[in-house]
Amino acid sequence: MCGIVGYLGNKNTKEILLSGLKELEYRGYDSAGIAVLQDGELINHKAVGKLVNLEEKTKNFVTDKFAVGIGHTRWATHGKPTELNAHPHLGESSYVVHNGIIENYAELKQELQNDGVKFLSQTDTEVIVHQFEKNLLKCNNEFEAFSKTISELNGAYATLIITASLPDTIFFAKHGSPMLVGTNDEDEKFFASSDSPLIGLAKEVNYFEDGDYGYVTKDELVIFDKDSKKVKPNFSKLSTDKLSAQKDGYRFFMEKEIYEQSDVIADTLIGRLSDEEIIFDEIDKNLFDGINEIKLCACGTSYHSALSASYMFERYSKIRCSVEIASEFRYRSPIMTKDTLFVVISQSGETADTLETLKMAKRAGLKTLVICNVDNSSMVRGADNCILTRAGIEKGVASTKAFATQVTVFWMLSLYVAKLKKSLTTDELKYQIQLLREVPLATKVSDDMHERIKRLSKRYLHGHGFFFIGRDIFFPLALEGALKLKEISYLHAEGYPSGEMKHGPIALADPELFTIALLPEHLLYEKSKSNVEELSARDSTICAISSLDFDKADDFIKINSCKDYMLEFFEMMIVVQLLSLEISVRLGNDVDMPRNLAKSVTVE
Ligand code: AGP
Repeated sequence: MCGIVGYLGNKNTKEILLSGLKELEYRGYDSAGIAVLQDGELINHKAVGKLVNLEEKTKNFVTDKFAVGIGHTRWATHGKPTELNAHPHLGESSYVVHNGIIENYAELKQELQNDGVKFLSQTDTEVIVHQFEKNLLKCNNEFEAFSKTISELNGAYATLIITASLPDTIFFAKHGSPMLVGTNDEDEKFFASSDSPLIGLAKEVNYFEDGDYGYVTKDELVIFDKDSKKVKPNFSKLSTDKLSAQKDGYRFFMEKEIYEQSDVIADTLIGRLSDEEIIFDEIDKNLFDGINEIKLCACGTSYHSALSASYMFERYSKIRCSVEIASEFRYRSPIMTKDTLFVVISQSGETADTLETLKMAKRAGLKTLVICNVDNSSMVRGADNCILTRAGIEKGVASTKAFATQVTVFWMLSLYVAKLKKSLTTDELKYQIQLLREVPLATKVSDDMHERIKRLSKRYLHGHGFFFIGRDIFFPLALEGALKLKEISYLHAEGYPSGEMKHGPIALADPELFTIALLPEHLLYEKSKSNVEELSARDSTICAISSLDFDKADDFIKINSCKDYMLEFFEMMIVVQLLSLEISVRLGNDVDMPRNLAKSVTVE
């Protein structure tokens, strides 16, 4: 996801900005840029792709005296990853960088365009700098213009502005996206969207609260709060450990990534929902012409998201859908017909088995689509069509946010096809789209829930096995819960369809067999409940996850009551992820780098 840095001081501004951006690389980005105001001159450099490209472009750019500078790594949301869309964005004589989303950018842009302002990019961010310059003409000074601009923005932002008429000042504002400012004994000022760029440079830091805005000069750090009251900075010491800084205070990357899911799902949805339809500008308009079947192919967690998709495609889009494990598919002489859309799903885009199935499908002349988290990966380059999941870099080997965003994309895609095939009514489609908008809320981790799971986890450190059970789309979630647990706890766990237990596995039931039961209120509740009762009657230890109380369980994790089972799916996803995490922590395992596993499996 996007990253911000800023610097005010006498040292090598270019180097400080570039190395700050390097520290933010792990968040993922597809273009980067810096703008520096030195000796009254505003200079800007941008490059698409990795930071080495920006380093190459700036190699002859010298910054050896007092300057102010801002920098940004951009993960494309509004508009493609091009130089024009990269930050910083220029007005007449000011530059802006911004993380987040300006929800009312279209209205502001229209008004500015009516006033004759020319826009160079397709981003929402560019309105900030033009609005600031428009206000400069009406206001008494730059800060007044900046304050007015901030009051006119709706949405989430962390933003920095520099302007030629005030060469010793950086303006800042934060609302909904993280940002901090640091300082040291030399009165340098540093901004960043997370701690790590400031480590080793700033002595103390102030984390901005939502609604904070203000400015820095060499001598001052002036902060106003959301009520426009001047407030004192609340400085704290900065950690000196870069790795822990990248974890933003979480114990593990996996934990951080579980907590990030609400935000990254919001990113996945950005620009893709209107009230009555799903917008995927990135795929060929005729992709589904002549298609009678969708075949999904993947490995591991991505396979589980594909399985969940098969329920949605058949239920919402009324299209035949089959799901394949890539390592099986590639050697079993599969029948491939041209009326099938072949879809590969991969977090990394590099998984060898999945990549090979994509090549097979292409050789067979099938239309192909990749759902992937990594732009420019081998699969993205290889497929005819691509939808990026926008989860940001996932560091924990055990995949969490990649899964969440894959399911979100599949849900959107099933509605996209439903619209094409008219398999849902307008009202049904509207209802589904409204539900999608509620997923970021459903995936917010509550402290109480996390605490409860932490406490419960101590009861699940032994036993001869776990069964995660669920019905319908909760079966793939059960598979995913079991995979998470075995990957990081090294305990044996299986995912099973609840209704299938009595056909064999129930023979294992005893108090040392742990059943993690997914009991959604709004999907086959009574059926699932009686399956769990069968296990309870045979003395299996039951941990039930539901919004409805269930007295046959030994342990019970209550999720929020939701209006639809799809929201329950996301609520329960958080629970099974946290449960695996906490069991693994108690067992003293390396949560982020479990034994024998690699993040990207590029061998067969
Ligand atoms: C997930 O927790 C695993 N580490 C693994 O199953 C992974 O999902 C699988 O290797 C597929 O990877 P991909 O999504 O990058 O293709």
